[in-house]
Amino acid sequence: MSETTKPVAVITGGGSGIGAEIARELGTRGYLVMVTDINGEAAAKIAAEIPDAHATSLDVTNPEACTALVNKVVENFGRIDVWVSNAGISKMQKFIDISPEDLRRTFEVNTYGIFFAGQAAARAMIELGIKGRIINTASMAAKQGRVPFLADYVASKFAVLGLTQSMAFELAPHGILVNCVCPGFVATPMQDRELAWEAKLRGSDPESVKKLWINDTPLARLETPEDVARVVAFLAGSDSSFITGEAISVNGGAYMD
Ligand SMILES: NC(=O)c1ccc[n+]([C@@H]2O[C@H](COP(=O)([O-])OP(=O)(O)OC[C@H]3O[C@@H](n4cnc5c(N)ncnc54)[C@H](O)[C@@H]3O)[C@@H](O)[C@H]2O)c1
Repeated sequence: MSETTKPVAVITGGGSGIGAEIARELGTRGYLVMVTDINGEAAAKIAAEIPDAHATSLDVTNPEACTALVNKVVENFGRIDVWVSNAGISKMQKFIDISPEDLRRTFEVNTYGIFFAGQAAARAMIELGIKGRIINTASMAAKQGRVPFLADYVASKFAVLGLTQSMAFELAPHGILVNCVCPGFVATPMQDRELAWEAKLRGSDPESVKKLWINDTPLARLETPEDVARVVAFLAGSDSSFITGEAISVNGGAYMD
């Protein structure tokens, strides 16, 4: 590995779903891509599909590991231009049934993970004088709590919006732009798990729940990972150079604000 003339993008949670598609999209658009995931094998599988991509395991809940990964990327490629904090988890259950352990784990991955990874990326960008981009994956559930069986997730994602604004404000003097995307009902492995959970909790079946979600979406289909990845690519590129601190809804109209 050696320094590159390409812009360098790092994606967390890139081994599946939305993160994998963001890695593919940025790879297609000429970035050198570092795919990371707590599941290193999944990350390696996605990286193998992309011409100039590398992979490594990264658990975003570990701040030292975030710093070590940032140092490794800078050592190997000389820079980080785009950091996409996309890793996230969900588990559907009634508010009254959520255990302290589940609440903590949700915040550790969805909120602290974005905090730790964003700190590590921002420190490197500042040190190297790079006017980079940090893009966080929030959710439609970061803007409204009218979402069943996801109270801990909703709280963790609302926090991502506030954090995105704080990061954007503090990093603006360094020329670093920070935004988040707020997807809706995206067809990914996370969604498959949620369809099964919600069906059970409603005494229904996954296909009926899927229909409910599509009916709730004015553009009348499930969202695809590509729908999200293209907006992330826009936020990574030069067309968005005067946007910072925003939470861009990408949800087919399922929630309008
Ligand atoms: N699918 C949806 O409908 C939807 C909607 C809105 C927001 N989101 C958000 O989009 C992001 C991606 O979701 P997805 O649907 O692609 O889910 P997914 O489950 O398909 O992929 C998530 C990836 O994150 C990884 N991951 C989990 N914990 C991690 C950790 N501690 N460190 C590093 N990686 C970790 C997983 O291994 C997995 O590869 C998440 O932040 C999710 O909350 C998803």
